[in-house]
Formats: sequence, C-alpha cells, structure tokens
Amino acid sequence: MEWWVSMPKLELHAHLNGSIRNSTLLELARELGEKGIIIFSDAECVLLKNDRSISESLKLFELIHLLTTNHKTITRITKEVVEDFAAENVVYLELRTTPKRNDSEGMSKRSYMEAVLEGLRSVSTVETDIFRGSDVEGSHGNGHSQRKKIYVRLLLSIDRRETREAAMETVQLAMEMRHLGVVGVDLCGNPMIGEWTTFWPVLEFAREQGLLVTLHCGEVPNMEEINAMLDFLPARIGHACCLKQEEWKKLKSYKIPVEICLTSNIRTETISSLDIHHFADLYNCKHPIVLCTDDSGVFSTTSSREYAIASSAFGIEKREMFELARNAIGFIFAGDGVKLELEQIFDLAAERLQF
Ligand code: IMP
Ligand code: ZN
Repeated sequence: MEWWVSMPKLELHAHLNGSIRNSTLLELARELGEKGIIIFSDAECVLLKNDRSISESLKLFELIHLLTTNHKTITRITKEVVEDFAAENVVYLELRTTPKRNDSEGMSKRSYMEAVLEGLRSVSTVETDIFRGSDVEGSHGNGHSQRKKIYVRLLLSIDRRETREAAMETVQLAMEMRHLGVVGVDLCGNPMIGEWTTFWPVLEFAREQGLLVTLHCGEVPNMEEINAMLDFLPARIGHACCLKQEEWKKLKSYKIPVEICLTSNIRTETISSLDIHHFADLYNCKHPIVLCTDDSGVFSTTSSREYAIASSAFGIEKREMFELARNAIGFIFAGDGVKLELEQIFDLAAERLQF
C-alpha cells in the first residue's frame, strides 16, 4: 500500500458523513448511549457491520446523521475527514455534503455549512487551500509554505428526498458561499426516491448561475431518468452502473467524466463483481474517469486502496495509474490556477516516484 499512499491523488466524490472515522462514530454513539438517546450496543452492531446492501447503507446514514446533529460535531468530522484524506496524499479534495436543517439544535442549512467551514479552518496537520477569489490567496494556515498542502473545495448536495423549494435553498446557499470555496452542487440520496423532474429546473438554475453540477446517475436501472440526466449534460456524473447499450453510447459521445467508486459499487451490490465492472470498458475507451471513495468510512476504504484495487483487478501498471490520477485534474471544479498548481505537484511527484 505504501506506494499507493505516496502517489498524489484527487478525490472528487466523497460524502462528508460517509467519510467519518469509525472510531469517531463509536465515540459519538457511546456519548449518545450514555445520555439515553440511543442504545449503544444496537448502534455498535450497525456501525461494525461490514457488508451492507445499498438499503442497509442508506439506513446506516440515518444512524450517522443521528450522531452528527450538532454544529460542534460537524466541525469535528470535517476537520478529521480532511486530515484523513491529506494523510492519504490526496492533494485536491472536493468534499460534498447535504446542508441540513435541525430546529432542535438551532441548525439551519446555513449554520450547518458554517460549521463545515469552521472545520476546514481548524485543520492542523496540513496546510489547506480553501478558496481563491480573483486575487485572493487562498491558503489557510500559518504560512509555512514548505508544509504539505491540500486544496479543498465544497459541493453542496441535494438529497432526493427534498422538495424543490428545499433544493432551491441549497442552491442559493451554494451561490452565496462561492467565495468560501463552494464550487458546485450534487444530486444524491436513495435512487429509488424522488423524481428527476423535481430537481432539474433547480439544477439548471444553479448552472446558469455559474455553479458546476454533478449527479448520482444510474445507481438503479431507470433508463428514462438516466437518459434525462445525460441529456442535461452535467459536468460530471457519479457511478453510472446501470446503463444499457444506448446509454453507454450516449455517455461516451457526450464525454461526461465519470466518478468511479469501485468498493462502494461492490459493497452495495450495485455491481456484482469487479470483473464485470464498467471501469475496464471506460478505461480502454479512454473515456474520462476518476477513481473515488464515495464513503470511505461506511465502506472501510481509502483513496490509495481504490487505486491499488483498480491496478490489480484490471492489470494496470503504476505509471498508468499515476496518469489516470493526473488526468482527473481536467475534471475538477476549481479554476485554472489550481489546475496549474496540481500539474506541478504531479510533475514533482513523477520525478520522486519509482514506477
Ligand atoms: P452527507 O451529505 O454529508 O450527510 O453524506 C451522507 C449522504 O450522502 C447520505 O445521506 C446520502 O444522501 C448521500 N450518499 C452517500 N452515499 C451515497 C450513495 O452511494 N448513493 C447515493 N447517495 C449517497
Ligand atoms: Zn455518492
């Protein structure tokens, strides 16, 4: 694993609440157990289970969200998640999260996001570049430019359970927080719930306002929705598991980059085994793809592990895997200045790494 950790990587599909350390979740569950809010042993069983179906995973998120309801916890998990990705040598992270309103905690979607931003500011193990205006230096930290650095940008997720109005509130928030590192929006959540027609006008509006859009697409074989999503021409899509011949053709002709999450697809049984995973076909066609973790905490994986798995499952050499990671620079939602700096990071790494 050491080599895969040392390789610089970009993470473009990571859900905040899916990327929490198991140790933190257990600690939070113990605290709520002691307060009598949950039964700790029940929560422990759910948290420690490894092989979860897609519906079990989405159920787990209900428990996770119960554990992460207050601002302090949101700040803590954000800090830890960024530090964990940085420790994996992820040099650019697009972290996505669903802004949540919780009246009993005095939490609005905005205050939820403020807690996330506070978490980014409290990262201490690595220098963080959080935002960059036209002439604003974005690095946050104590000015030691020799320190390891991670660029972090945010995507605000719309959950498919939400109403059009709630989705619009998220988009408005994303627009207002653009100068704080929010670069786009995502549509996620249970793929069996909600209608594309509810969300597309909101997502179209987001795009008109200059936000970039990525969609969870094709987690279930709903061809009508998959076609409508592809025709929307999102800047990227996540998963793309259940496409059929016509939809593959469309995806390839539109050249929409795909965020591939191997372990997530296997664990949720969206794809039955790696030897039939669409990664191989897309890779061979030189279709734009990027390897991502989705929910590193929930699926017990890391960015380095996803690269190691792809290399061994599909017989791809280290140098090609390095190029795969570098190519993802072209699909990030941050601007050209960041792209150039990432190119330099990869150039330097290429001199250092033994292929
Ligand atoms: P959060 O947005 O930070 O709360 O991250 C967890 C949320 O991400 C979950 O409640 C889901 O809505 C979404 N999510 C995580 N993994 C998946 C997935 O595999 N498919 C669809 N949605 C997902
Ligand atoms: Zn996802």
